[in-house]
Amino acid sequence: MPKILVTGGAGYIGSHTVYQLQQQGFSVVVVDDLSKGHAASVPAGALHVFSLFERERLAALMQAEKVDAVIHFAAFIAVGESTREPEKYFHNNTAGSISLFSAMADAGVNKLVFSSTAAVYGNPTQIPIPESSTISAVNPYGESKVMVEKILDWLDTSRGLRSIRLRYFNACGANNDAGLGERHDPETHLIPLILKAVISGKPVTLFGDDYATPDGTCVRDYVHVDDLASAHIAAVNHLLGGGATGAYNAGTGRGYSVKEVVAAVEKVTGQKVPFLMGPRREGDPDQLVADSSRLRQTLGWKPRFDTIEAIIESAWVFEKQNLT
Ligand code: UFG
Repeated sequence: MPKILVTGGAGYIGSHTVYQLQQQGFSVVVVDDLSKGHAASVPAGALHVFSLFERERLAALMQAEKVDAVIHFAAFIAVGESTREPEKYFHNNTAGSISLFSAMADAGVNKLVFSSTAAVYGNPTQIPIPESSTISAVNPYGESKVMVEKILDWLDTSRGLRSIRLRYFNACGANNDAGLGERHDPETHLIPLILKAVISGKPVTLFGDDYATPDGTCVRDYVHVDDLASAHIAAVNHLLGGGATGAYNAGTGRGYSVKEVVAAVEKVTGQKVPFLMGPRREGDPDQLVADSSRLRQTLGWKPRFDTIEAIIESAWVFEKQNLT
């Protein structure tokens, strides 16, 4: 079976993908500096703790392990922080990716799956959003990913580095069989914050109810992390089979408002969600919903979790077991 190097494999989406790769029989090598990830989320023996900026070490590892393809997750993800510290995001996410791509060139590895984001679309003008929409990030986090996508186009042209960019919508849920789930510090994402509010009784703040949506709260496309993981496996198989470079939306195609997520949590947990209505958070578009037909048709992807309740249920089981 092919050998895959996974950067950021100790993080949330990375660890679920490593688990699924191994379930499917792939050999996996993880590189993670553990600045955000958790060593315990990676199988013993697979983890190499160092930074993507160590180009020679990366290239040597890829050569020694005879790596066939790379899945590149390692990045900072906090949109709010990126607006306060843009250099941190361009350095880690963009320059770090360039170091990785140079190491791949040194080692002769030319297949890459890259973690991109719906944030590349900024404030979209069309819902659901097709991949052909204008790319126009509205925060440094999104821009750091746009820049990498553009670099990847040039690397395809100049030296045949073939890449699949998966533009994630809202990753959520957990794989409780694997003991994996969402453990960001600090947590900024809606579903874990609502679940923590149910457990603690301390209200979660909902950011704004004056958006141009049916109930006034933002609409997002929540996709289970295991379904994102299976999109990576489809992408890596596509590249290993000789498939071409391309960008693909990874979302279910169904949007839920913040208030609908609250209602779904109440249904799943059987408890009231304590919440306060607050002002808008800067930089939140009204709606982000994927047109994921390209991923479904070209890569044969089909999400297994097709209701928000099923996704929340998995996150709820995880949250109750991992009270911090
Ligand atoms: N929200 C709240 N209260 C909170 C947290 C979030 O009301 O305490 C709202 C947000 O305003 C937003 C929705 O819940 O309307 C979802 O917010 P998240 O922070 O969970 O997710 P985002 O949509 O902001 O972010 C996700 C990814 C980012 C990516 C972005 C693309 O986590 O990495 O989608 O826009 F950049």
